[in-house]
Amino acid sequence: MATNLYALILGASSGFGKAAARALAQDGINIIGVHLDRAAGLQQVEELKAELSTLGVQSHFFNINAADAERRAELMTSIAEILAANEGGTIRLLLHSLAFGTLKPFLADSPNDCISQKNLEMTLDVMANSILYYTQDVVRRGLMGPGGRVVGLTSAGSTRVLPMYGAVSGAKAAMEAYIRQLAMELAPYGITANSIRAGVTHTPALDKIPGSDVIMGNAFMRNPNHRLTTPDDVASVLRLLVKPEAQWINGTILGVDGGEDAVDLTWWKPETQA
Ligand SMILES: NC(=O)c1ccc[n+]([C@@H]2O[C@H](COP(=O)([O-])OP(=O)(O)OC[C@H]3O[C@@H](n4cnc5c(N)ncnc54)[C@H](O)[C@@H]3O)[C@@H](O)[C@H]2O)c1
Repeated sequence: MATNLYALILGASSGFGKAAARALAQDGINIIGVHLDRAAGLQQVEELKAELSTLGVQSHFFNINAADAERRAELMTSIAEILAANEGGTIRLLLHSLAFGTLKPFLADSPNDCISQKNLEMTLDVMANSILYYTQDVVRRGLMGPGGRVVGLTSAGSTRVLPMYGAVSGAKAAMEAYIRQLAMELAPYGITANSIRAGVTHTPALDKIPGSDVIMGNAFMRNPNHRLTTPDDVASVLRLLVKPEAQWINGTILGVDGGEDAVDLTWWKPETQA
Protein backbone atom coordinates (compact mmCIF):
# COMPACT_ATOMS: atom_id res chain seq x y z
CA MET A 1 0.00 0.00 0.00
CA ALA A 2 1.59 3.27 -1.12
CA THR A 3 2.13 6.03 1.45
CA ASN A 4 2.70 9.73 0.82
CA LEU A 5 6.40 9.22 1.55
CA TYR A 6 9.06 9.33 -1.18
CA ALA A 7 12.68 8.24 -1.38
CA LEU A 8 14.88 10.37 -3.63
CA ILE A 9 17.61 7.95 -4.66
CA LEU A 10 20.67 9.25 -6.50
CA GLY A 11 22.06 6.22 -8.33
CA ALA A 12 18.83 4.22 -8.41
CA SER A 13 19.51 1.98 -11.39
CA SER A 14 22.18 -0.31 -9.94
CA GLY A 15 23.87 -1.64 -6.81
CA PHE A 16 22.81 -0.16 -3.47
CA GLY A 17 20.43 2.38 -4.99
CA LYS A 18 18.46 -0.23 -6.89
CA ALA A 19 18.22 -2.56 -3.89
CA ALA A 20 17.10 0.37 -1.74
CA ALA A 21 14.33 1.23 -4.23
CA ARG A 22 13.01 -2.32 -4.13
CA ALA A 23 13.20 -2.62 -0.33
CA LEU A 24 11.63 0.75 0.47
CA ALA A 25 8.84 0.13 -2.04
CA GLN A 26 7.93 -2.95 -0.02
CA ASP A 27 7.12 -0.55 2.82
CA GLY A 28 4.96 1.60 0.54
CA ILE A 29 7.56 4.30 -0.02
CA ASN A 30 7.35 5.86 -3.50
CA ILE A 31 10.56 6.08 -5.48
CA ILE A 32 12.11 9.02 -7.28
CA GLY A 33 15.21 7.63 -8.94
CA VAL A 34 18.10 9.49 -10.56
CA HIS A 35 20.56 7.57 -12.71
CA LEU A 36 22.89 7.94 -15.69
CA ASP A 37 22.52 5.08 -18.15
CA ARG A 38 22.61 4.10 -21.78
CA ALA A 39 21.17 1.03 -23.58
CA ALA A 40 21.59 -1.98 -21.26
CA GLY A 41 21.19 0.15 -18.15
CA LEU A 42 17.94 1.60 -19.48
CA GLN A 43 16.52 -1.89 -19.94
CA GLN A 44 17.28 -2.59 -16.27
CA VAL A 45 15.47 0.58 -15.27
CA GLU A 46 12.38 -0.49 -17.22
CA GLU A 47 12.43 -3.85 -15.41
CA LEU A 48 12.84 -2.12 -12.06
CA LYS A 49 9.93 0.24 -12.79
CA ALA A 50 7.72 -2.74 -13.66
CA GLU A 51 8.73 -4.45 -10.42
CA LEU A 52 7.99 -1.33 -8.37
CA SER A 53 4.58 -0.92 -9.93
CA THR A 54 3.65 -4.46 -8.84
CA LEU A 55 4.38 -3.30 -5.29
CA GLY A 56 1.77 -0.58 -5.71
CA VAL A 57 4.06 2.45 -5.34
CA GLN A 58 4.73 5.33 -7.70
CA SER A 59 8.09 5.42 -9.41
CA HIS A 60 9.59 8.34 -11.31
CA PHE A 61 12.98 7.91 -12.94
CA PHE A 62 15.24 10.63 -14.32
CA ASN A 63 18.17 9.71 -16.58
CA ILE A 64 20.39 12.75 -15.98
CA ASN A 65 23.83 13.69 -14.76
CA ALA A 66 23.08 14.27 -11.08
CA ALA A 67 25.97 16.72 -10.82
CA ASP A 68 24.61 19.07 -13.50
CA ALA A 69 23.18 22.12 -11.72
CA GLU A 70 20.64 22.93 -14.46
CA ARG A 71 19.32 19.36 -14.58
CA ARG A 72 19.10 19.40 -10.79
CA ALA A 73 17.03 22.59 -10.84
CA GLU A 74 14.64 21.06 -13.42
CA LEU A 75 14.45 17.89 -11.35
CA MET A 76 13.49 19.85 -8.23
CA THR A 77 10.61 21.46 -10.12
CA SER A 78 9.44 18.02 -11.26
CA ILE A 79 9.72 16.64 -7.73
CA ALA A 80 7.70 19.54 -6.32
CA GLU A 81 4.95 18.74 -8.84
CA ILE A 82 5.04 15.02 -8.00
CA LEU A 83 4.76 15.70 -4.26
CA ALA A 84 2.03 18.31 -4.74
CA ALA A 85 -0.09 15.73 -6.58
CA ASN A 86 -0.02 13.42 -3.53
CA GLU A 87 -1.51 15.22 -0.52
CA GLY A 88 1.10 15.60 2.22
CA GLY A 89 3.73 14.15 -0.10
CA THR A 90 7.22 14.51 1.35
CA ILE A 91 10.70 13.12 0.83
CA ARG A 92 11.48 10.80 3.73
CA LEU A 93 14.89 9.73 2.44
CA LEU A 94 17.56 11.34 0.30
CA LEU A 95 20.03 8.58 -0.53
CA HIS A 96 23.32 9.39 -2.25
CA SER A 97 24.56 6.25 -4.00
CA LEU A 98 26.41 7.68 -7.00
CA ALA A 99 29.52 5.91 -8.28
CA PHE A 100 31.35 8.04 -10.84
CA GLY A 101 34.98 8.61 -9.92
CA THR A 102 38.27 8.65 -11.78
CA LEU A 103 40.46 5.73 -10.76
CA LYS A 104 44.05 6.79 -11.44
CA PRO A 105 47.18 7.29 -9.33
CA PHE A 106 48.14 10.75 -8.13
CA LEU A 107 51.62 10.39 -9.62
CA ALA A 108 52.80 8.90 -12.92
CA ASP A 109 55.52 9.63 -15.51
CA SER A 110 52.98 11.01 -17.97
CA PRO A 111 50.33 13.56 -16.90
CA ASN A 112 47.77 11.55 -18.90
CA ASP A 113 48.27 8.55 -16.63
CA CYS A 114 47.56 10.35 -13.37
CA ILE A 115 44.71 12.33 -11.83
CA SER A 116 44.18 15.73 -13.42
CA GLN A 117 42.50 18.76 -11.89
CA LYS A 118 39.42 18.03 -14.01
CA ASN A 119 39.32 14.38 -12.84
CA LEU A 120 39.64 15.36 -9.20
CA GLU A 121 37.03 18.09 -9.32
CA MET A 122 34.56 15.87 -11.20
CA THR A 123 35.04 13.02 -8.72
CA LEU A 124 34.56 15.31 -5.72
CA ASP A 125 31.58 17.00 -7.34
CA VAL A 126 29.66 13.82 -8.18
CA MET A 127 30.65 11.65 -5.24
CA ALA A 128 30.66 14.22 -2.44
CA ASN A 129 29.58 17.81 -3.17
CA SER A 130 26.31 16.77 -4.80
CA ILE A 131 24.90 15.42 -1.54
CA LEU A 132 25.14 18.92 -0.10
CA TYR A 133 23.46 20.61 -3.10
CA TYR A 134 20.58 18.11 -3.14
CA THR A 135 20.10 18.48 0.61
CA GLN A 136 20.06 22.29 0.34
CA ASP A 137 17.47 22.10 -2.44
CA VAL A 138 15.05 19.65 -0.84
CA VAL A 139 15.17 21.42 2.54
CA ARG A 140 14.93 24.97 1.16
CA ARG A 141 11.98 24.06 -1.04
CA GLY A 142 10.21 22.31 1.83
CA LEU A 143 10.30 18.98 -0.02
CA MET A 144 11.80 17.29 3.04
CA GLY A 145 10.59 18.04 6.54
CA PRO A 146 10.68 16.58 10.08
CA GLY A 147 11.46 12.87 10.05
CA GLY A 148 13.58 13.27 6.91
CA ARG A 149 16.77 11.29 6.45
CA VAL A 150 19.88 12.17 4.48
CA VAL A 151 22.14 9.17 3.91
CA GLY A 152 25.38 8.87 1.92
CA LEU A 153 27.25 5.70 0.98
CA THR A 154 30.85 5.70 2.10
CA SER A 155 33.51 3.00 2.17
CA ALA A 156 36.46 1.84 4.25
CA GLY A 157 38.53 3.60 1.57
CA SER A 158 37.74 6.94 3.22
CA THR A 159 40.45 6.22 5.80
CA ARG A 160 42.63 3.70 3.95
CA VAL A 161 44.86 3.70 0.91
CA LEU A 162 44.15 1.57 -2.16
CA PRO A 163 45.92 1.78 -5.53
CA MET A 164 44.12 4.23 -7.89
CA TYR A 165 41.50 5.09 -5.25
CA GLY A 166 42.96 8.44 -4.13
CA ALA A 167 40.35 10.73 -5.69
CA VAL A 168 37.44 8.56 -4.53
CA SER A 169 39.02 8.25 -1.09
CA GLY A 170 39.10 12.05 -0.88
CA ALA A 171 35.46 12.21 -1.96
CA LYS A 172 34.45 9.69 0.70
CA ALA A 173 36.26 11.62 3.44
CA ALA A 174 34.61 14.84 2.24
CA MET A 175 31.18 13.23 2.17
CA GLU A 176 31.57 11.95 5.73
CA ALA A 177 32.56 15.45 6.85
CA TYR A 178 29.64 17.10 5.01
CA ILE A 179 27.22 14.64 6.56
CA ARG A 180 28.50 15.34 10.08
CA GLN A 181 28.05 19.05 9.45
CA LEU A 182 24.59 18.49 7.99
CA ALA A 183 23.62 16.44 11.05
CA MET A 184 24.19 19.53 13.17
CA GLU A 185 22.59 22.02 10.79
CA LEU A 186 19.57 19.83 9.98
CA ALA A 187 18.70 19.00 13.60
CA PRO A 188 16.47 22.09 13.98
CA TYR A 189 14.48 20.82 10.99
CA GLY A 190 13.97 17.39 12.60
CA ILE A 191 16.06 15.79 9.85
CA THR A 192 18.95 13.39 10.47
CA ALA A 193 22.08 12.83 8.38
CA ASN A 194 24.28 9.74 8.47
CA SER A 195 26.84 7.89 6.38
CA ILE A 196 26.62 4.17 5.75
CA ARG A 197 30.00 2.51 5.40
CA ALA A 198 29.13 -0.57 3.36
CA GLY A 199 31.40 -3.59 3.27
CA VAL A 200 32.91 -4.78 0.01
CA THR A 201 29.98 -5.49 -2.34
CA HIS A 202 30.10 -6.98 -5.82
CA THR A 203 28.55 -4.28 -8.01
CA PRO A 204 29.48 -2.72 -11.38
CA ALA A 205 31.28 0.08 -9.52
CA LEU A 206 33.50 -2.38 -7.65
CA ASP A 207 34.36 -4.22 -10.87
CA LYS A 208 35.82 -0.98 -12.22
CA ILE A 209 38.38 -0.73 -9.39
CA PRO A 210 41.73 -2.19 -10.51
CA GLY A 211 42.42 -5.29 -8.39
CA SER A 212 38.77 -5.73 -7.42
CA ASP A 213 39.23 -9.52 -7.40
CA VAL A 214 41.93 -9.16 -4.72
CA ILE A 215 39.72 -6.72 -2.75
CA MET A 216 36.84 -9.20 -2.87
CA GLY A 217 39.08 -12.14 -1.93
CA ASN A 218 40.44 -10.28 1.09
CA ALA A 219 36.97 -9.19 2.19
CA PHE A 220 35.70 -12.74 1.92
CA MET A 221 38.48 -13.98 4.22
CA ARG A 222 38.36 -11.12 6.63
CA ASN A 223 34.61 -10.81 7.03
CA PRO A 224 33.53 -12.75 10.16
CA ASN A 225 30.68 -14.14 8.05
CA HIS A 226 32.99 -15.15 5.18
CA ARG A 227 30.81 -13.62 2.55
CA LEU A 228 30.67 -10.26 0.83
CA THR A 229 28.13 -7.59 1.72
CA THR A 230 25.14 -7.49 -0.64
CA PRO A 231 23.11 -4.46 -1.75
CA ASP A 232 20.17 -6.03 0.09
CA ASP A 233 22.13 -5.98 3.40
CA VAL A 234 22.36 -2.21 3.09
CA ALA A 235 18.78 -1.84 1.86
CA SER A 236 17.54 -3.65 4.98
CA VAL A 237 19.30 -1.11 7.18
CA LEU A 238 17.78 1.76 5.18
CA ARG A 239 14.34 0.29 5.88
CA LEU A 240 15.15 0.62 9.59
CA LEU A 241 16.70 4.08 9.30
CA VAL A 242 13.60 5.65 7.73
CA LYS A 243 11.44 4.58 10.68
CA PRO A 244 10.58 7.24 13.28
CA GLU A 245 12.33 5.10 15.94
CA ALA A 246 15.69 5.83 14.23
CA GLN A 247 15.41 9.60 14.82
CA TRP A 248 18.23 9.59 17.41
CA ILE A 249 20.77 8.05 15.01
CA ASN A 250 22.43 11.20 13.75
CA GLY A 251 25.80 12.44 12.54
CA THR A 252 27.43 9.04 12.56
CA ILE A 253 29.05 6.52 10.24
CA LEU A 254 27.17 3.25 10.41
CA GLY A 255 29.25 0.23 9.46
CA VAL A 256 27.01 -2.13 7.47
CA ASP A 257 29.51 -4.85 6.68
CA GLY A 258 28.85 -7.86 8.92
CA GLY A 259 31.85 -6.86 11.07
CA GLU A 260 34.36 -6.79 8.20
CA ASP A 261 36.01 -3.53 9.16
CA ALA A 262 36.56 -4.63 12.76
CA VAL A 263 38.84 -7.51 11.79
CA ASP A 264 42.51 -6.69 11.38
CA LEU A 265 43.66 -7.81 7.94
CA THR A 266 47.13 -8.76 9.23
CA TRP A 267 45.55 -11.50 11.32
CA TRP A 268 44.61 -13.40 8.16
CA LYS A 269 47.40 -15.55 6.83
CA PRO A 270 46.83 -17.89 3.88
CA GLU A 271 47.20 -21.00 6.08
CA THR A 272 44.47 -19.77 8.46
CA GLN A 273 41.93 -19.29 5.69
CA ALA A 274 38.83 -21.42 5.77
N1 LIG B 1 30.46 -1.66 -4.18
C1 LIG B 1 31.14 -1.51 -3.04
O1 LIG B 1 31.91 -2.40 -2.61
C2 LIG B 1 30.94 -0.26 -2.22
C3 LIG B 1 31.29 -0.28 -0.87
C4 LIG B 1 31.10 0.87 -0.11
C5 LIG B 1 30.56 2.01 -0.69
N2 LIG B 1 30.23 2.00 -2.02
C6 LIG B 1 29.65 3.23 -2.58
O2 LIG B 1 28.28 3.02 -2.86
C7 LIG B 1 27.87 3.96 -3.87
C8 LIG B 1 27.10 3.23 -4.95
O3 LIG B 1 27.94 2.27 -5.54
P1 LIG B 1 27.43 0.92 -6.22
O4 LIG B 1 28.46 -0.07 -5.90
O5 LIG B 1 26.01 0.68 -5.86
O6 LIG B 1 27.60 1.36 -7.75
P2 LIG B 1 26.81 0.97 -9.09
O7 LIG B 1 27.77 1.15 -10.19
O8 LIG B 1 26.14 -0.36 -8.93
O9 LIG B 1 25.65 2.10 -9.17
C9 LIG B 1 26.00 3.45 -9.40
C10 LIG B 1 24.75 4.24 -9.72
O10 LIG B 1 25.13 5.61 -9.87
C11 LIG B 1 24.53 6.13 -11.08
N3 LIG B 1 25.36 7.24 -11.52
C12 LIG B 1 26.70 7.27 -11.66
N4 LIG B 1 27.10 8.50 -12.01
C13 LIG B 1 26.00 9.27 -12.10
C14 LIG B 1 25.77 10.63 -12.42
N5 LIG B 1 26.77 11.47 -12.72
N6 LIG B 1 24.49 11.08 -12.41
C15 LIG B 1 23.46 10.25 -12.13
N7 LIG B 1 23.63 8.95 -11.81
C16 LIG B 1 24.88 8.47 -11.80
C17 LIG B 1 24.48 4.94 -12.02
O11 LIG B 1 23.55 5.16 -13.06
C18 LIG B 1 24.04 3.84 -11.02
O12 LIG B 1 22.65 3.91 -10.85
C19 LIG B 1 29.16 4.63 -4.36
O13 LIG B 1 29.29 5.88 -3.73
C20 LIG B 1 30.24 3.68 -3.89
O14 LIG B 1 31.47 4.32 -3.71
C21 LIG B 1 30.39 0.89 -2.80
